[in-house]
Amino acid sequence: MKQNLILAATGKTGRRVAARLSAAGHPIRTAARSGADVPFDLDDPATWPAALDGVTAAYLVEPSLDSGAQQPPRIARLVDAAVQHGVRRLVLLSAPGAEREGHPLHATDLAVRESGVEWTVLRPNWFSQNFSEDFWLPAVRSGTLALPTGQGRVPFIDADDIADVAAAALTEDRHAGQAYELTGPRALTFAEAADLIAAATGKPLRFVDLPAEEFLQQQLSYGTPTEAAQRMTNLLVGISTGAHAALHDGVERALGRAPRRFEDFAVAAAAAGCWS
Ligand SMILES: NC(=O)c1ccc[n+]([C@@H]2O[C@H](COP(=O)([O-])OP(=O)(O)OC[C@H]3O[C@@H](n4cnc5c(N)ncnc54)[C@H](OP(=O)(O)O)[C@@H]3O)[C@@H](O)[C@H]2O)c1
Repeated sequence: MKQNLILAATGKTGRRVAARLSAAGHPIRTAARSGADVPFDLDDPATWPAALDGVTAAYLVEPSLDSGAQQPPRIARLVDAAVQHGVRRLVLLSAPGAEREGHPLHATDLAVRESGVEWTVLRPNWFSQNFSEDFWLPAVRSGTLALPTGQGRVPFIDADDIADVAAAALTEDRHAGQAYELTGPRALTFAEAADLIAAATGKPLRFVDLPAEEFLQQQLSYGTPTEAAQRMTNLLVGISTGAHAALHDGVERALGRAPRRFEDFAVAAAAAGCWS
């Protein structure tokens, strides 16, 4: 009997992965600190055995890069526990660059690839859903998106595509040993992304290229811890230098189809009322 464990099951990708597996008739166990099948806390190993019992494949997510300073990282410890519990397949939501030392998810990414069981690593670029479900949602609703990203481009990836790849990797054999770099089909500036959202909502949305120091001070004034605020600032400034602009064929390789377009994401999110 196969059993799929889905971590971060109420988050942007986990809940989509759970919905896909469930709709296809695969047994699933969802896990999060609340609102899932099992109460599960990455910071509380006492909650892990009940989640891992009888599981054959697991979708792993590290929701907080602030946990990266822990050595070994908490997901690496979970990987050991999972293998001991008989889990035979691991699918990790990682990030671009995590294959390199110094990246906050490097040790996590490596632990999955060196787990000794079947693994697939997903390294998606920035999610389109950051505009509709996460950190840029309040700005979009306010009509002004102010970020230190300049004219830098990002091929935003739709979380539905990430979930399609994750669901395939959990349930099909041919993704074992694959690291998929996942991007959308076209790299957009934030001004272009704002225009596409405005076209979908019918409401104006202005992009402002904020100086990095101003963005950092703003984050600190919202109470964001210094390290997290500095990391987000650095990531966004990296966009302005073109560091996140490359297109990759991971969706095509994994699924045999093109990734979803940002304009289609925007229309669907507007129709779902995300920005109302
Ligand atoms: N967002 C992006 O654009 C992007 C791009 C590339 C890579 N990534 C990577 O994707 C990963 C996930 O990021 P995300 O923003 O999409 O997160 P997310 O999945 O939306 O994170 C939230 C989920 O994690 C659960 N969670 C939070 N803390 C937990 C804990 N201590 N133990 C167990 N579950 C916990 C939450 O439920 P509870 O609060 O109920 O526990 C919720 O289900 C990160 O590693 C990030 O680096 C993100």
